This record gives sequence, structure tokens and C-alpha cells, in this order.
Amino acid sequence: MSAYEFTDHVYDVVVVGAGGAGLRATLGMAEQGLRTACISKVFPTRSHTVAAQGGIAASLSNMGPDNWQWHMYDTVKGSDWLGDTDAMEYLAREAPKAVYELEHYGVPFSRTEEGKIYQRPFGGHTTEFGEGPPVQRTCAAADRTGHAILHTLYGQSLKQQAEFYIEYFATDLIMSEDGQCQGVIAWKLDDGTMHRFSAKTVVLATGGYGRAYFSATSAHTCTGDGGGMVARQGLPLQDMEFVQFHPTGIYGAGCLITEGARGEGGYLTNSEGERFMERYAPTYKDLASRDVVSRCMTMEIREGRGVGKDGDHIHLHLDHLPADALAERLPGISESARIFAGVDVTKEPIPVLPTVHYNMGGIPTNYWGEVLNPTADDPDRIVPGLMAVGEAGCASVHGANRLGSNSLIDLVVFGRAAAIKAGTVVDPNAANPDMNAASVEMAMDRFDAMRNADGGTPTAELRLDMQKAMQADAAVFRTDKTLAEGVEKMEAIANRMDDIKVTDRSLIWNSDLMESLELANLMPNALATVVAAEARKESRGAHAHEDYPDRDDENWRVHSLAVVDGAKTTLTTRPVHLDPLTKQDEGGIDLKKIAPKARVY
Ligand code: FUM
Repeated sequence: MSAYEFTDHVYDVVVVGAGGAGLRATLGMAEQGLRTACISKVFPTRSHTVAAQGGIAASLSNMGPDNWQWHMYDTVKGSDWLGDTDAMEYLAREAPKAVYELEHYGVPFSRTEEGKIYQRPFGGHTTEFGEGPPVQRTCAAADRTGHAILHTLYGQSLKQQAEFYIEYFATDLIMSEDGQCQGVIAWKLDDGTMHRFSAKTVVLATGGYGRAYFSATSAHTCTGDGGGMVARQGLPLQDMEFVQFHPTGIYGAGCLITEGARGEGGYLTNSEGERFMERYAPTYKDLASRDVVSRCMTMEIREGRGVGKDGDHIHLHLDHLPADALAERLPGISESARIFAGVDVTKEPIPVLPTVHYNMGGIPTNYWGEVLNPTADDPDRIVPGLMAVGEAGCASVHGANRLGSNSLIDLVVFGRAAAIKAGTVVDPNAANPDMNAASVEMAMDRFDAMRNADGGTPTAELRLDMQKAMQADAAVFRTDKTLAEGVEKMEAIANRMDDIKVTDRSLIWNSDLMESLELANLMPNALATVVAAEARKESRGAHAHEDYPDRDDENWRVHSLAVVDGAKTTLTTRPVHLDPLTKQDEGGIDLKKIAPKARVY
């Protein structure tokens, strides 16, 4: 047994993570008078949401006709018919409300001439159930929308007396013997003290696991911490095989160039100067869904039409757009292109390459954010006291592929939904349950073992091996061969966690230990991804399987569930929710409109 002393904290709700979803949940909980703590390993406004550029989707109709049914249709089609219909309806229907709330909280959106929230086109967002022209649905604060949202939500949360535990790293969940979440353990990074947080509800808002890959737009902090904590409790991860590549990461650096660049009129060319998207997606061209654009770019490069001396990337042109429009609408990416590619966007194209950007999969939840531990008899069984929102969760609203700007709206709609739900299930007058000492002890034994790990493999070396294997074998295009190799490599890499070496034994600002704990979180996320991808014998959304190029709804319109234990992954499935929340004769969507069909843009 390890001997660590604890500082104890008691709350109604503990939110882990202070990105858009975590802060929106925190604010919503605190507004209702729930005693709410938010734990974050970075200062809240440095959370990865700060990097979200192009905007947040909501059918406000400020720039032309739009409605939530069209938004829902686009989301269903974008998901390649894997999303849960109730969750997708909830997202599209609640989106305008959630955005107006942000406006009233103080988010400084860009404005139209009439003073309304400015909206730009984004890939896969259309009118008339995919039959009409692209719609301007993506509400923007220039190209710094996530930054604007984070600052506003943090300020509002402080105003509501939410309490922040900043630069605390949540290491493990505390669970009762009968599977109820009772709180979390956290390590305070600047003084090395350990903290036990008791909570009636824990909300995991820890973001994605982009750093399982070598090249990602995700911050270095995106290490799948929530997924890791859940996996260690024997709970499943869902739809992990669906990893989104953003078409326009800066070549070499990987930083994001927003899809808003194409929304504002930018376009892609190959080495022949051809606007090749016109060939692949004649209707929506450069504004096709991003999985489609990423695949087309990859095909151009493979077929020898890439640009640059190695022919290994693509050009994004903004140089035909007026300089004042670039300065007003895209100042952030103009700066990024200058710093990271040495390019003046008013004069030259930006070198870009599809780069890992988003995880559609995550911790399975219902559309209230309640975590699920499905059984064959009860595929929607809830884990009491545990919620997950944002990229950490899988509601499942993005299915096999997410549309651009549906992420920021997911964060605020489902962060808000979690707060609404908690308002009905958390009793502020009830006593907190006693924490399960065995669960605390198990968490601390793991922490202590990692702190004293004395094997032969440095963390950085093992992390690099994992990132290279994932990049090579769970890529934009996949085959039976690459995936089988990927599984073999990843299982061997996961087994080497037992041989890890941590050199710094201290507890204060120990980045060696922190990165090792983060690697332990990345590992089950990466394993679940490649194992579930190897098993899925079809192509759907971001999962482009060259040996099975077609979607197979009969056998594979199911969510995959992965339980990871060490290097071993066990897969099962869970049915997709096909019923919407609102019946058609009560104002809901026409079900015929969202029936599966070929996904063309
Ligand atoms: O391209 C972008 O601005 C990214 C948006 C998103 O992933 O939703």
C-alpha cells in the first residue's frame, strides 16, 4: 500500500477539463446552485478549444434560409448514418438556443452589416436536405471562435462561484464496489500534493486523444485522459476507429488552417494547378465533407500530383481573395501561415496536408451526457454518477465523421445538456457517499508504481513508437494488411508499458511522470482505435477501408464498443438509435429524408 496524504474536497459536481464542454457544463451546474469544482491540468483559457478557429454551427438563418431540420440532415449524412438519431436531433434543435446564450454571455461574434452574428459556409453544410446550395451556418468570431468562447465561459463560471483547481492532473476515478462514480483523485502539479474530490456526479470533459498520432492539429495536452480513466474501470470506449483527418494542416508543422478559409472562398490545387475537388465533388467541390476532401487530397498525392519537391502535399489558395477580407475574417491563419510555413497568404498558396484533427469515438453517453455501460439486454445502461461531454464523449452525434463547426456546437449543447440533467438528478441537500477506500488505494498504487517505474524504455521513446505506428497503420486509407500490422505493433507497444522508465521521482513539476501518466491514458485509446478499425469490414465516414470500399449497413450500422485491459482489447457492439426525439406529425424531421443512401457531395 502506498503512503500518500490527501487533501479532501467535497462537491456536488466535479468537472474534469476546462475546454468548451467542461466550462459550459461548469457554468450550467454553478448557475443552478450546485457546488461545482472544475479541475484542469492547464489554465482554462489554454485548453485545446482555444485553437478552434472557423466557428460554431447553428441554423440562425442570418445569411439566408436555414432550419434545424436541414442542419440535422447534414449531420446525419456527415455521420455516414452512424450517429444516434435522437442525439443528432437534439444537437441541431438546441444549437440556435445555445449560440444565443453564448452571445448573451458575451462572446464577441463577428457581425453582419445589420449587426447580426456573422455566419460562413463550412464543408457538408447545405440547404434543402442536401439538394440546395451550401448554407452559411457557421457562426464565427473571425478565425478565433474557440478562443472567444473559452474566455467568455471562464469569466461567466467565475461569476457563478464555480471553483477552479488549475494545474491539477486528475489521475483516476473513484468508483464504488457496485459501479457508481464517487469522485476523482488529482495531483497538484506545482506543489506535489494529492487531492481526493468527492462528488455526486463527475463530468469528464478531457478532450480527444489526437496525440496518439505523430502529426495532429491537437494540442500536446490531448492525451485522452478521460478515455484512459474509463478504460481502467473496465468500461467501454465507443466507435474509436473513426479518426478525423482535417484536410488542411500546415505541411510539416501540422497546425490547423481553418476550413473557414475554404468557406471564405479558398480552394485546393494539385501540381498541375488543377482545382481537383471539382472532379471528385462536382456540387460542393472544396466544401465537401472533410473526410471526402482528405481522401481526395491523399489520392492526388498518391497518383503523383502532389506539390513540392517530394510531391507530398497540396496547395491551398487564398491569394485571390482581397487582402482586407483576409485581415478581417482570417487574421489568425494568416499569421499561422507566416510563422509556420513562411507564406504570405495574400501572395502565395499555403502548403497543406490532411492531419489528425478529431476523434469521433470516445466514452459512450446518451444525449444528456450520462456515461453508458451497455449490456446485451440493456444497451443504454447508465453508469451512475458519471458523465462525459465534448470530444471525450461519444453521444453519438458525429457517427463516423464529424462536420466542421459541429464540434464547438457539440461542446456547448452537450455541456449545457449535462448541466440540465444534473439539475434533475443531483440533490444538493443529500450527503456525499463515503468514498470506496479500495478504489482510492488502487489508483494510488498505480500512481506510485509509475512514479517509481524503473524499466529500460524512456516514455518519449515508447510514445514515439505508438505515434508512428498509429500514423502508418490507422491512417486516412486502411487495408486488412495495414490494420493487422497496426494491431500487432500496438499490442507489442502496449506490453512495453511494463518496461517504462521514469527518471524523476519528485512530485513537484514532474513532467516526466506527468507525460508517463498521459501515455498510460493514450495507450488504451490508441489500442481501441486500431483494433476496432481492423474489425470493421466496410468503409464508412472516416474509416476508408480499401479492401471493403462500400458501406455495409446490413452488417455494420452498429456502434463498436472496446474494453481495453492492458494490451488486450475485447470488442462488442451496440445498436444505433434510429428514432428521433420528435415525431414527424409533432414537428419532427421527415424520416424518409434521413433514410440511408449513397453519400455524395
Ligand atoms: O477548420 C476549422 O476551423 C475546424 C473546425 C472544426 O473542427 O469544427
